[in-house]
Amino acid sequence: MKKTFPEGFLWGGAIAANQAEGAWNVDGKGPSTADVTPFKDPKDLEQLKDIHGLSDVTDEMIEKALGSDDENAYPRRHGIDFYHRYKEDIALFAEMGFKVFRFSIAWSRIFPKGNEEKPNEAGLAFYNDVIDECLKYQIEPLITLSHYEPPLYLCTEYNGWSDRRVIDWFVRYVKSVVEAYKGKVKYYLTFNEVDSILRHPFMTGGLIESRFSPDEFEEVEYQAMHYQFVASAKAVGVIHTCDPAAKVGCMLTKVTYYPYSCKPEDVLLAQQRMRAVYAFSDVQVRGEYPAFLTSMYRNKGFHLDMTDDDLAILKSNPVDFVSFSYYQSTCIAADESGLDTTAGNTIIGVKNPHIPTSDWGWQIDPIGLRVSMVDLYDRYGKPLFIVENGLGAVDKIEEDGTIQDDYRIDYLKAHMKEMYKGIVEDGVELMGYTSWGPIDLLSNSSNQMSKRYGYIYVDLDDYGNGSYERRKKKSFDWYKEVIATNGASLFEE
Ligand code: BG6
Repeated sequence: MKKTFPEGFLWGGAIAANQAEGAWNVDGKGPSTADVTPFKDPKDLEQLKDIHGLSDVTDEMIEKALGSDDENAYPRRHGIDFYHRYKEDIALFAEMGFKVFRFSIAWSRIFPKGNEEKPNEAGLAFYNDVIDECLKYQIEPLITLSHYEPPLYLCTEYNGWSDRRVIDWFVRYVKSVVEAYKGKVKYYLTFNEVDSILRHPFMTGGLIESRFSPDEFEEVEYQAMHYQFVASAKAVGVIHTCDPAAKVGCMLTKVTYYPYSCKPEDVLLAQQRMRAVYAFSDVQVRGEYPAFLTSMYRNKGFHLDMTDDDLAILKSNPVDFVSFSYYQSTCIAADESGLDTTAGNTIIGVKNPHIPTSDWGWQIDPIGLRVSMVDLYDRYGKPLFIVENGLGAVDKIEEDGTIQDDYRIDYLKAHMKEMYKGIVEDGVELMGYTSWGPIDLLSNSSNQMSKRYGYIYVDLDDYGNGSYERRKKKSFDWYKEVIATNGASLFEE
């Protein structure tokens, strides 16, 4: 009997507005945090491990950025020009047989400052066209409402998500979106990697760290995160009310932490790290803060603005499904001395000696994906959706014009096979799989173009040179076959 994925399995790919669209100041769009984040040209792995160095932005940097029209210094401003080329790109996705296409809406395209009374109709019209283009090919749109990039105005004027008023402005934005696309969009995600506010306070939370004292900043981050949780829950409520057929998911950075050894100290630390990962989905799925987080707040002496009303809103608006990104696992050791560390997903961990590592220091572990699926499904019993997975690699155009990205095929194939086992052997309910960057786009952690994930190559380098021409890689036909056979081709040698 052929091994196939469940009928109706949603195969596809995922992108984010700020890494793909470009057109940063077109048709009324306001600037977002992404548009003022400079390219720092990381030269080696050590620099890639400098998470803060790559993403910290100060008031002076914002001022400088706003005075500059150099799109290559701020590459999110040009992206891969998806804004103007979406028809060509979606046609290529359709040729691969995509059943679903995940993309995000840039809040600042709909509300340029973030808090206007009325939405920018040109922004709504653009995404309406993107949605219609998907539907033309029977591709389901899966919309991320916030994939990093809050409107810059909210950051400079209100200190971003640390201000409670941002909740209502976000909800107003969500309402405009859902009312506009009602009946056309079945799947929404609220905040991409909601936990990332702790790693990228500016990009995700609009928090300009230098405005705060180092002693208070951690509390500010958790406060902002709480407001995002409330906003997310309110968004779930708004979507369910406006469009009862639509389903809403949370989105979690699913790093799998392994204890480096069986030393009880390592095991305990790995458990604590995993608990910290799940805290974010716990709030959105169970509608409650996990006990350890509330004890942590108490022990640190935090006094968060968290009302009974907020807690009731969280409780009454759980998400319908659990989506997550998975790129890698990493090890945790209580004593790291003498051990190699490595980069990845903007998280630094101890290198696992048993698995390979990508050129960007991310550890390649397909089994870790199955571990993640089982853990999440056992914990919540809700359908899962893998909304990001993939290999960032350097691609080379051969003399005959082809791109032989067998390394990418190997990575994806191994992960998909584990996914299959998770479904068939472990009984996990998996709605679909959208690999990250089906078309090459800017790297989130490093703003590089040279870190490519796509089945489709984009002619553009790290310094803005290139024609933006699209070209199919070897993996294009490979993925097309996977989708056409609903996974059966993965098992044919
Ligand atoms: C995820 C993000 O963390 O990882 C994406 O949601 C990002 O936005 C992806 O692009 C891959 O990371 P990177 O840094 O290789 O682009």
